[in-house]
Amino acid sequence: MSQPIYLSGKEISLDDNSFIVTKTDLQGNITYANRVFMQITGYREAELLGKPQNIIRHPAMPKGIFRYLWQEISAGRECFSYVNNRSKNGDNYWVFANITPVFDGTIKMTGYFYCRRKPKASAVAKVNQLYQHMLEIEQQHQGDRGDKSLQWLLAQVQQEHGSYEKFILGL
Ligand SMILES: Cc1cc2nc3c(=O)[nH]c(=O)nc-3n(C[C@H](O)[C@H](O)[C@H](O)COP(=O)(O)O)c2cc1C
Repeated sequence: MSQPIYLSGKEISLDDNSFIVTKTDLQGNITYANRVFMQITGYREAELLGKPQNIIRHPAMPKGIFRYLWQEISAGRECFSYVNNRSKNGDNYWVFANITPVFDGTIKMTGYFYCRRKPKASAVAKVNQLYQHMLEIEQQHQGDRGDKSLQWLLAQVQQEHGSYEKFILGL
């Protein structure tokens, strides 16, 4: 049985001028983390290197968002998203994130570069509403890996904004 994930209920906020940066290999294992990442998550470098990026996964994040993210970056496209993450002590923090595939100078993809900053509160409120609904869909379809909730999200935003990217960048 998996252990319950401890959440403190305390939200921490990034400074206006801080950037959180990590790099990963193609599997999403951390190969570099900057100081801001270590400060905000409470992990030391030795605890992070080689670990999967889902070390900071928050249970309130829908699977469908990660489905989208992996779909885009593994196809070599950069992508943007709002992500709620969990620090080591159970606090949470929201970020506005950009993930960019890294190429080796030829067409070979070697990993991902992940940079995030403080999000606008109004944007978090908007995506949080959508994420709540995605979580409900995921509860109704246990075993689904996020395809159904992602389909729902994409249909919502395409109708109103044309694409997921236009929606996210317009928030
Ligand atoms: C560059 C990169 C950055 C990622 N950033 C996050 C992140 O900030 N938070 C997170 O929970 N998952 C992140 N992921 C996705 C995780 O690899 C994983 O798919 C996700 O946490 C879902 O975990 P699960 O498969 O255990 O449910 C990232 C993946 C990559 C490649």
